[in-house]
Parts: sequence; structure tokens; C-alpha cells
Amino acid sequence: MSKPRILVARAIFPDIVDRLREHFDVEANTDDVIWTPQELAARLADKDGVLTTGSQRIDAALLAAAPRLKVCANMAVGYNNFDVDAMTAAGVQGTNTPDVLTETTADFGFALLMATARRMTESEHYLRAGKWTKWSYDMFAGSDIHGSTLGIIGMGRIGQGIAKRGAHGFGMKVVYHNRSRLSAELEAECKATYVGKDELLRIADHVVLVVPYTPASHHTIGAAELALMKPTATLVNIARGGIVDDAALAVALRERRIAAAGLDVFEGEPSVHPDLLTVPNVVLTPHIASATVPTRRAMANLAADNLIAFFDGRGPLTPVNQPATLR
Ligand code: DGY
Repeated sequence: MSKPRILVARAIFPDIVDRLREHFDVEANTDDVIWTPQELAARLADKDGVLTTGSQRIDAALLAAAPRLKVCANMAVGYNNFDVDAMTAAGVQGTNTPDVLTETTADFGFALLMATARRMTESEHYLRAGKWTKWSYDMFAGSDIHGSTLGIIGMGRIGQGIAKRGAHGFGMKVVYHNRSRLSAELEAECKATYVGKDELLRIADHVVLVVPYTPASHHTIGAAELALMKPTATLVNIARGGIVDDAALAVALRERRIAAAGLDVFEGEPSVHPDLLTVPNVVLTPHIASATVPTRRAMANLAADNLIAFFDGRGPLTPVNQPATLR
């Protein structure tokens, strides 16, 4: 019997592609070409499954052009590149990679918060530019992490990981806002108090965004929300581009309406709003929150395992939808 045909849409660890080859007839994008939606659709025309990395859009038009496609395994916990309704209606299974990246991403969120509040990259640029000629009492004075109030918007697994780091490691007072309130047990574990979004923005010294991107969460933080924040506050976005109105944020940073921001994700990435590149009080990183070798390997292996389990008939390990009937 012939093997199912799989496309690996971006370059990933070669040994994990080799593992897929044991089960499937694999076409791999070894050169890591960024295909247009049309090029992706052409390659999927004869494929049964695809391993995506979060930047390939799977929508009704692509599904129509790929009539054999049965499963899309995203190598990311976020899956806003999937039109889940269109996939479910077409009988196409989607999967993602939760859990394996939680702690690594929470580590990074906390690192970005600290770099932002303590002005680490801004001061490093100053030093590298040869501008450091004397010590002064207020040179790159930032804001404290320990003992301050941490506001987390989006209290899923990663948000909870950041809350624990803040509450247990740095004695922070943690407040959070989420679509639904956590159980009393989880709130106690995270030492976190539920508050409304506006209250969180008013009282937090540091705001961290970990909310999934959906049309409803588009511009969760825009000019009106930034206006509620303390002028000494920092804002960190490790969620998704589009959760923050980047143009409004650049204005707020330039006018010092908030102290600083740390951004790992951007609207329209890999493009970055040009105004963000010229304000000094922002730390910018290229969507690397889950980027450690063990975690990226675990993500790629889980995406591969989802494909293998799906075609073995065991069902996907970490599904994002439940089509009534499969293609
Ligand atoms: C995710 O898993 O959603 C991260 O953003 C990595 O792409």
C-alpha cells in the first residue's frame, strides 16, 4: 500500500524529517523557501497531510485547491494561521503543540519583562556606541520588578507560568484578566487575583500579554488602553502580532505615556512598524519566545507525532478541532 503524502512546509530538524520519511512519502522544504499562498496550494494539491510552522495560512481557498488534504499539524501552540471553521467544515483535522513550550515561553516572557523594565538593550546600545564616559546617579534608571504589581492578560498555561515566576520568585503582586476566571486552586497556585481589564491596566506596573489571537482579541491594547496605563509602566507582548496596535504603541512610547515595551511579536511580522525601530524605549526580538533547541525539537516531534497518530488511525494527540466527518 502506498504511503500517505506529506508536505513539510518549512525547514525543520533534518532527523525529524527522516523520522517522518519512515511513515510517509515526504516532500520537505529543505531550502526554507517562503512560498506564496498559490505556491503552497500547488504543492498541497496531491498531499494528504502538511506540517506547518504557524505562518502558512490554511483557509477555504487552499482547502479547495488541496482536495486530498486531511490533516494540518502546526508546529506552534498558536494556530491563528488556521481558519478552523473552514477546516472543520471541510472535514480537515488541525493540531497544534501545547504544553511542550510552556515553561520555555514563560522563561522568555519573564526575561523580556526584565530586559524592558531594566532598560538592558537601550543601555547596551549606549555602551557599544562608545557613549559611556562616566557613571551618573540616574543613568538608565528603570523600574523594579521585585515587589511590583504584575498584570497578566491571558491566563492560559504560559500566563500561569509567568505568574508563578513573578509571585514566587520575585515577590510580585499578581493580577490577571482572562476570558474565564481560573479555579480557586489555580489562583492560589499562581497567587493571582482576577480583575477587570481596565482595572488591571490602571494598577499594574508591568503588563504582560499572553492572549491567543482571534478577531475578538485584535488590538486588545490600543490608544485607549495605553492611556489607562501608568506613565511608569512597561508592556510586554509575547502573544501574537495584532494583539497590540503597534502604531499607537510607538506614539505612546515616543511621548513617554508609558515607560517602555518589550515585543517579541508584531503586526505583519517579519515586518516591524518603522516607528518602533526608531524609539529607544522598546526591546525588540524576532518571535523567539519558544526558541530553545530542546523546546523547538519537542514542538517539531509533537507535530510529527500528530501526523503519525492521525494516519495510524489512533487520532490526533493534540487536536484543535473536531470535524464531524473526516475527508
Ligand atoms: C507558538 O507556538 O505559537 C509560538 O508563537 C511559536 O511560533
